[in-house]
Amino acid sequence: MRAYKSKVVSPIQLPERDERAANLERAGYNVFELDSEGVYVDLLTDSGTGTMSESQWAALMKGDESYAGSTSFERLQEAISDVMGFERIVPAHQGRGAENVLYGALVSEGDYVPNNTHFDTTRAHVTNAGGEPVDCPLDASVEGIESGEEGENRNFAGDLDVEKVRELAAEVGAERIPAVVVTLTNNSLAGQPVSVENVRRAREVADELDAVFVIDACRFAENAFFVRERDPAFADASVAEVAREQLSSADAVVMSGKKDGLVNVGGFVGIGDDPALDGLYDRARERGILFEGFTTYGGMAGRDLEAMAVGLREAVEERYVADRVGQVQRLGDMLAERDVPVVRPTGGHAVYVDAAAFLPEIPAEQFPGQALVCELYREGGVRGVELGSFAFPDTDRPELVRLALPRRTYGADHLEHVAETFESVAERRDAGEISGLEIVEEPGMAELRHFSAELRPVAEREATTAD
Ligand SMILES: Cc1ncc(COP(=O)(O)O)c(C=O)c1O
Repeated sequence: MRAYKSKVVSPIQLPERDERAANLERAGYNVFELDSEGVYVDLLTDSGTGTMSESQWAALMKGDESYAGSTSFERLQEAISDVMGFERIVPAHQGRGAENVLYGALVSEGDYVPNNTHFDTTRAHVTNAGGEPVDCPLDASVEGIESGEEGENRNFAGDLDVEKVRELAAEVGAERIPAVVVTLTNNSLAGQPVSVENVRRAREVADELDAVFVIDACRFAENAFFVRERDPAFADASVAEVAREQLSSADAVVMSGKKDGLVNVGGFVGIGDDPALDGLYDRARERGILFEGFTTYGGMAGRDLEAMAVGLREAVEERYVADRVGQVQRLGDMLAERDVPVVRPTGGHAVYVDAAAFLPEIPAEQFPGQALVCELYREGGVRGVELGSFAFPDTDRPELVRLALPRRTYGADHLEHVAETFESVAERRDAGEISGLEIVEEPGMAELRHFSAELRPVAEREATTAD
């Protein structure tokens, strides 16, 4: 059952098939270059693309745009304290701004930072501060995702492997590890959740190393929902209670409000009230002023602070989070029923498709993930994103395509359309009509190529050469 009805609508349309094909060609077979007007169901990201509630829109009007001492900041502070348990806040324009503030204050040249899996911007900010990001996922989870089999610990496949953190400390010295980080949910590992028990063990290992324990809380409410559903110890708890319990282990949280803050822009760092963290708070506050803006707005308008204050409270409401995660699970099930090889169990914010298995005729060097992304647009105006060898050159990541659902935005008929689009792509695949792709032009930084590289179908070049 849906928990919402629409009050404000955004018109969308599905362009004709030949128009979609022309759009794709014009975009250089790179969906980041498509105009959003030509996209029918946009599953590029769940970040900042959701729908605000009537309470959030009403709160916008109360935005206090004062440079200093804004009452909107007080309201945000109160919400973060109530929902997440942190009173010392440094606001930022979005998650990566908060990461810059926090990791710049924590990490020095030559340090190592373990994380269950670094999200791309987290990795970049740790590196930028002179540190070495070290991913410590459970091997079984990674193998499960790579092989398409469900790994062990399927309920909490996002967990941190705390033994890997201990091994890292034995190798490089505990003094070189300023922070231990856990990302809830584990975005770079197919959005898999992390258990409360795992967070407690991560806290213990951080204490052993005398390191700051940080939680990347972007999707803390979705994670708490999974804990309540999957861990019998929390079966009778509310999502709000689980979230508070899980976050209470952390010394600091770093947050992109564009996810479980239910807003289109915004973020913050939260720092615990332990006096041992006073120095960290002072440094973070200073960096906040330097890079984001004064401490009571930090790169956000007063109205944005208000919207996030309301959004954080809504994110832990039972009907919201059940509706949200349920929708993602449903899309995963619909695709699995149609023999689309999806990563199981489905994560909290997105469905991940194994493109190499779906398009087995396309060799890795012809980017099967990107080919699938292009076909989804051509066949149904659906936009997903490749997270395989095109996005991450020179790594041996599996050829995944991510379909991320914006929050409170699409309905069952949109999901049905996505599933039908996969059926059409499968028909074209079976008829041998899908070509792999090759890069025509790419930017200097290979890591950024999935945003702007230009590609073309290999079959097109072969046809031209044959002429
Ligand atoms: C786990 C995680 N951390 C940090 C970020 C960065 O947040 P933002 O996009 O708001 O800069 C993201 C964004 O997707 C994320 O998923």
